[in-house]
Amino acid sequence: MSDNELSAAKDKGPQTNLPKRPRRYFLPAVVGAVVIRLELFYLASFDVQCSVPGVECFLPLLLIFYEILPGRRPRTERRKDDDETFSQTAFEDFDDWAETSAPLSLLGGLLLAYGAYRASMGSNKSTYFCSALDRASLVFWAQLTGLLLDATIIILLWRILAWARTTKSRLRTLSGILLATSLAVGTMVWLLQQYEARDGLGSLYVFDVIFDGFLFSLFIISSTFVVCEGNPSTLVGTIVMFCGILSAKHRIALAGTWENVRRGQSHTALFVLSVGFATFSYASGLRSIIYMRRILVLILLALFFVCSAIYILAKKGTLLDDYPVDKFIYNNRIEADRWLVHASVSKSVKIAVQEYQERNHRRDPPPKFDIWYKFALDRNSPIMDHFEQIGHDILPFWGLAPEKIREGVALAAQQPDIAIVKVENGAASHGQFIDSPYRPILDELVDLMKPFSEHLPNMQIAVNMNERPRVLAPWDDVQRYTQAGLGHGLRKLLSRRSVGSSPAQDLQNRVDPRSAPDILQKDHTSAQAFRQMTALACSPGSKGRSGVHWNIRDFCSTCAKPQSEGIFLKHWDMSLDICHQPDLAHLHGFHITPPSLKPLQQLVPIFSRSKTSSYSDILIPMRRQYDVPEDEPGSDFQMKYDQLFWRGKISGDDISHDLLHGGHQERLVHLINNSTSSDRATILLPSPNKGDKHKDTEEDRYRYESAPISDLTSALPINVAISSYANCKPPSPACDRALREFGTAPEDPPTLKNRYVLLTDSDNGPPVGLLPALRSTSVPFVATVFREWYTERLMPWVHFVPVDLRYQGLWSTLSYFTGLKGKGEVAGRDPQMAARAGDAVWIAEQGRTWAGRALRREDMEVYLFRVLLEYGRLVDDGRDENGFVLT
Ligand SMILES: *[C@@H]1O[C@H](CO)[C@@H](O)[C@H](O)[C@H]1NC(C)=O
Repeated sequence: MSDNELSAAKDKGPQTNLPKRPRRYFLPAVVGAVVIRLELFYLASFDVQCSVPGVECFLPLLLIFYEILPGRRPRTERRKDDDETFSQTAFEDFDDWAETSAPLSLLGGLLLAYGAYRASMGSNKSTYFCSALDRASLVFWAQLTGLLLDATIIILLWRILAWARTTKSRLRTLSGILLATSLAVGTMVWLLQQYEARDGLGSLYVFDVIFDGFLFSLFIISSTFVVCEGNPSTLVGTIVMFCGILSAKHRIALAGTWENVRRGQSHTALFVLSVGFATFSYASGLRSIIYMRRILVLILLALFFVCSAIYILAKKGTLLDDYPVDKFIYNNRIEADRWLVHASVSKSVKIAVQEYQERNHRRDPPPKFDIWYKFALDRNSPIMDHFEQIGHDILPFWGLAPEKIREGVALAAQQPDIAIVKVENGAASHGQFIDSPYRPILDELVDLMKPFSEHLPNMQIAVNMNERPRVLAPWDDVQRYTQAGLGHGLRKLLSRRSVGSSPAQDLQNRVDPRSAPDILQKDHTSAQAFRQMTALACSPGSKGRSGVHWNIRDFCSTCAKPQSEGIFLKHWDMSLDICHQPDLAHLHGFHITPPSLKPLQQLVPIFSRSKTSSYSDILIPMRRQYDVPEDEPGSDFQMKYDQLFWRGKISGDDISHDLLHGGHQERLVHLINNSTSSDRATILLPSPNKGDKHKDTEEDRYRYESAPISDLTSALPINVAISSYANCKPPSPACDRALREFGTAPEDPPTLKNRYVLLTDSDNGPPVGLLPALRSTSVPFVATVFREWYTERLMPWVHFVPVDLRYQGLWSTLSYFTGLKGKGEVAGRDPQMAARAGDAVWIAEQGRTWAGRALRREDMEVYLFRVLLEYGRLVDDGRDENGFVLT
């Protein structure tokens, strides 16, 4: 608050806007109101997906209501004090009239609130859903009551503080109130926690909370001064105006993209908002807005309105010349060829060694590399040089001394669901008893090692038998070890023979504070703690680490943008990284369900079948515990059902609120089967005006349009359902709820009898049946966050069709292949969009051929051999000297 404004306020006559005297009970009333308000906020944010956006915008309207109540505002008296009434100009007359007109005040407030509300309404919803079984109306009433309480709190505070005589006493009263409310809120939270468990934010965000709390108090204190010199409605109105402008600006910037297909809407909102604010500012005598004269602000508003109109008009013709999928297929086909050339450069061991060094930070290949090379050659491996995943998995361990790695294996061996496979004198074995459920898997793994185990050094490998990956080391640790590991390679470049302690070992001794690791991990982890551990595995600057993603109601466009082109998933590889997609923490079953076994937060070598980008497990090919029996790859594509088929499994009887509404399987079923008539989605359609003139489909241009989901489900054949609720014991309320929510699948035809097969992750691991689907003549649609050993070998849009787990592009992607011609009305017309079944056949065929070339059992052997050679060297004390050198 400036002295200017203070004195300006004084000039107008001392305390012209003084409200009525506060009553004695006001203080406790404020405290009570804040407590109830926070409880309502908690209630509404528990089901935030059901809340109505923009309700808060109506706060100024409520305040104005209060102010114009009879006897509340001493407006009329102000000018009467002046002697100069006779010299008033017509303009000032207008001012006078405006400032005393209650209806005008109300009208301004109404327009302002409505404009801001419309401006904040347009954003896209995420697929985290509000079910018919949720108490959406309760949330709405909580929002409304909360709004009323907000107004009450502000008015009470205003009346209390405006009557404080000096600044000092005002501050003292305010801090008293803040302290009392904090105490009351703290007590209430403590009391409630005795009855129900509530997730806190977690210690990772303590600094954020303190910082935000500090900012908030600062805001309260400074706004107190502003408000006490005027009315609360002027400050609140100004804030709402700014927020409205910001969201309108955000929406307008998206005009022409798929996220804002109704361009006019936000612009109209902006208009209403501006007119509303102009009226409001005159009606409430707001002469200056943050040091700017009112007229200047209004001119700026008008300018912004005109500029955005021009921007929107310029964007209006955003028609796409090609369907993006067309381009993806064409480009990635070339890319796949290029990749394959690069993946198999070497034609002899000599070149292979050079390639290895080039791709592995100048390190020599492991001993017996020539034998591996011959092995791979004999097995016709199409890939001889590209093993980036192995390099990536192994590299951090170069920062750990060999004996530390061996200690890690011993530590891992004590964990549940870890089996040890031993290689001794060229023979691999595991010590699982005959009745162990893991035995068949380990038998198979040992079997896979048999052809090459004679070449392996003695070692012990810790194999993870759990569905979930296990090693969730913090980013800082992994990074430090990786840097140390890189040092190794560089040092070797300088001198081949270095004796004495290696710097990496020194570093290791220094950096490992967990010399006494917590061997017996606590088994239970909360979803919150688990999410926090995952966040720690992201780099400090990334979005996944730096904040809490709480707005699960709206579509997170910054999360999806990096890997998307328009509504489609373009860079599949990027989509596997969670660190720039914090929204996935609430949109994927893997992140929502806490693991039954707490992940290890230190770097230990554990071999797993699959992992997400956050984990440091070493990937190996391995059978799953419950693999689907491979059904016959199926007949001809043309003979199959023309639909996208998916069957999900909900497992566990502990289905949390978050999982029920946000799990990737649950969202999918709700989206397709339970959308209401008002739900809409965006889809790319051929633009209508072009289609009339030219019947030639090649002339088609495309535009994003919004269509009711009911149109899309009837035009596009998508068959999804939950086929089993494993571990569901009948009396479980969570199971009961899930059953009512999603229903059960009618009957299950064989998956591969369908032309399009949607493969999503289970809650614990990658899609079941991905390899069989690749090997079949069906087109796999893949939505996953997991990596497996062969992930790097797959090319999206060539071997399979990638789908974003937010499902925003599912409709458009499928419609490219099945077409929309003659399938009923979409967005009010029959879109003349021909099917591209030819492309579908091509992708199915590419996937099949490639799986037959690069994803065979032989390829698993080649991969496993190479990983184990690397690992064998890693745990060898002489690892710095004994690399493979061609003689
Ligand atoms: C959702 O759809 C399924 C299948 O159509 C149905 O069984 C289930 O009752 C629906 N759920 C709700 C909440 O309406």
